[in-house]
Amino acid sequence: MEIQEALLNRRSIRKYKAQQISGENINKMLKAAMYAPSAMNTQAWQFVVVDNKQTMMDIFKIIPHAEMLKQTVKAILVCGDVSVEKNETWILENCSAATQNIQLSAYGLGIGSCWISVYGSEDTFKKIKSLFNLPENIIPFSLVSLGYPDEEVKTEERFKEEKIHFNKW
Ligand SMILES: Cc1cc2nc3c(=O)[nH]c(=O)nc-3n(C[C@H](O)[C@H](O)[C@H](O)COP(=O)(O)O)c2cc1C
Repeated sequence: MEIQEALLNRRSIRKYKAQQISGENINKMLKAAMYAPSAMNTQAWQFVVVDNKQTMMDIFKIIPHAEMLKQTVKAILVCGDVSVEKNETWILENCSAATQNIQLSAYGLGIGSCWISVYGSEDTFKKIKSLFNLPENIIPFSLVSLGYPDEEVKTEERFKEEKIHFNKW
């Protein structure tokens, strides 16, 4: 697949079929995540694969606006490790890159995904940390819900000349 095709046509998918995602495909997405850029190449990330229906519902109770979790067949919790990377801003940047790689890899495999914010809300952050028994040094960053698409999502033109500046503002 052309990389530009994936970059422009990947959309957040929130409706999924019941079809399962193979472990092989999950590993491909995790591999893509682990090849993301990271500050000083620390690769200070960890991943929790969720394939348990009850756990998915427990997450849904914590993040009730994430309706898609009712249909999500698998999800990946992207976490940062503050014992490896002390700079928390870099952790967030690294985990963002890893999250996007998962989404792009999923798209290439014909799998729909949606980035669900975990770190953005202190309440969600604390509850997810506790639900997953994450050690003190592991911070939950994002949850990527995954499933074969059961919707087609289009977007408007996003390329805007007025957002581009050359050399100085
Ligand atoms: C940091 C971040 C947090 C997000 N959190 C959520 C979320 O909690 N729930 C959700 O449905 N979508 C979430 N999204 C997905 C955005 O809504 C989506 O990317 C945006 O609407 C653009 O649509 P697109 O992904 O189809 O291009 C998040 C995306 C980002 C980058």
